[in-house]
Amino acid sequence: MIVKSLSLGDYRNIEKLNIEFSPGVNILYGSNAQGKTNILEAMYMCATGRSMRTHIPKEVISFGKDSAHIQMIADKGVFKDKINIHIKKNNKKGIAINNIAVKNINELFGTVNIILFSPEDLMLVKEGPSLRRRYMDMELCQLSRIYADDLSRYYKLLRERNTLLKEEKCDNMALDIYDSQLVEYGIKIMKERNRFINETALKAEIIHSDITSGKEELEIIYIPDVSEKDYARKMREYREKDIYYKSTSVGIHKDDILFNINGVNARDYGSQGQHRTICLSLKLAEVENVKEKTGYSPVLLLDDVLSELDRKRQLYIINSIKNIQTVITSTGIDDILQSINENASIFYVKDGVIEKKKKVN
Ligand SMILES: Nc1ncnc2c1ncn2[C@@H]1O[C@H](COP(=O)(O)OP(=O)(O)OP(=O)(O)O)[C@@H](O)[C@H]1O
Ligand SMILES: [Mg+2]
Repeated sequence: MIVKSLSLGDYRNIEKLNIEFSPGVNILYGSNAQGKTNILEAMYMCATGRSMRTHIPKEVISFGKDSAHIQMIADKGVFKDKINIHIKKNNKKGIAINNIAVKNINELFGTVNIILFSPEDLMLVKEGPSLRRRYMDMELCQLSRIYADDLSRYYKLLRERNTLLKEEKCDNMALDIYDSQLVEYGIKIMKERNRFINETALKAEIIHSDITSGKEELEIIYIPDVSEKDYARKMREYREKDIYYKSTSVGIHKDDILFNINGVNARDYGSQGQHRTICLSLKLAEVENVKEKTGYSPVLLLDDVLSELDRKRQLYIINSIKNIQTVITSTGIDDILQSINENASIFYVKDGVIEKKKKVN
């Protein structure tokens, strides 16, 4: 699958943009703060309905304007999909797929598959568990609409339960109902996460070993907060505590992922370079995952990450993206980008305006 074109209107610092991507490598280059990441953000939003930078949709509307527009056309060979998103200042987002309005934002998942690799991802191993849950969820949601719906349902129930816990006199019967539903959805989500991590681990562990010439053995382990069989009992056990603290302490919203290198916890003992290699392995494993699950290659967005990696890892990426559409952003064109220059489409971004170039100079 490829993204054929992207059009933006009043999107962040971009007043108007029409871009036709090539099916291979596309390089967006330009100085800092010109709009390169904004373009990737808009593409990511078409795949997930969300920005990777903000939870507040209206932040993407250009200052002083009332709404922003995105249109993206994806080409799947036999047919094309057109996605339109209209973000309004005082209203809900309007979304249409092939000119048919969709009510549920989750319907976007699976229409285009996008894998984004950004400098923030490099924190995945080191930072708190919420980033690692977000990683699992964003990848899984793109692969399964059922998962996306179960997850939305779970978080809605969780918010309602937490509201109930904050009430003066907590209704235990209502809590019983919430608990049984949270357990039901929690177990479904847990099973999917477990399957996903096991499948990704198999691929990422091979890639990691490859990149490190067999010196490092990566192990990726899903760490659920609670086991399936203890789920209901533990929720009951923690109820008094939950009422006291007015929040839900047990469930899949506390899950985590453990990364070991040569048997040692990489979060505590790994070097920065090792963390980066883990992320790179995960992203490339995800490319394989999507191909396997959907039959289509995903589109890879590399937001300024090449400069964060050493030469060996840069080359590994360049070799891995040969057959998939990739959009790379960069402030400068170093020799690694020069090396793919010949076969890439080059765009220069300045002040929210994009200009197609024949060659980088
Ligand atoms: N809602 C908005 N309206 C207008 N401009 C905005 C809005 N949100 C962000 N910007 C502007 O967009 C620019 C940042 O764009 P972006 O993050 O895409 O830069 P970039 O080219 O990726 O830069 P870098 O190389 O530093 O990552 C900033 O100048 C910022 O002020
Ligand atoms: Mg940027």
